[in-house]
Amino acid sequence: MSSDKGFVIWFTGLSGSGKSTLTEALAPVLRERGCRVEVLDGDVVRTNLSKGLGFSKEDRDTNVLRIGFVANLLARNGVAVITAAISPYRNIRDRVRALVEADGAAFVEVHAGATVEQCEARDVKGLYAEARAGNLPGFTGVDDPYEPPLNPEVRCDTGSEPVQQSLGRILAYLESRGLLRAAVAAGMDS
Ligand code: ADX
Repeated sequence: MSSDKGFVIWFTGLSGSGKSTLTEALAPVLRERGCRVEVLDGDVVRTNLSKGLGFSKEDRDTNVLRIGFVANLLARNGVAVITAAISPYRNIRDRVRALVEADGAAFVEVHAGATVEQCEARDVKGLYAEARAGNLPGFTGVDDPYEPPLNPEVRCDTGSEPVQQSLGRILAYLESRGLLRAAVAAGMDS
């Protein structure tokens, strides 16, 4: 990988699976390691870049492709990008991967693998209860599809392992690929 490129850490997983929590844990660590970091969180993106989009397959695909487009612009300019959207469809995630890799940056897909049962038991936002009550038709994992990655770079068992353990897996992977060093070189002030 060219040393002036950043990388994209692409979290995918159900609502409430821990994507945002892991993002918040990871971003400061990467900054400490000298990376310039930008975060594209699904909930935040949907209040600005994707405002007005809903949760049909078409709208989700548009949302995910927008996030991928921006992530690619940043990563090819040396930024370490972390995205945290459900991104339920495998073929759209693979399209984003192809876009990023074609421009020379690494795409690191991280599956936040908590199951529906585990996410529903926590139900941090109360949305699973709403979905079960029929108030949120088309809720991912309840009555809308989620296609887990077949071969993600990192699998985190976010339903049972502590945040620090998931974080350790991700950092170990980045180190094994030499991405932290590369991003440090790209992200440091000259
Ligand atoms: S994605 O499918 O387009 O990738 P995104 O991550 O941006 O989804 O948004 C998911 C968040 O929107 C969930 O965490 C939840 O708070 C909220 N949400 C509202 N309606 C739905 C729904 N029908 N399915 C999933 N999430 C929903």
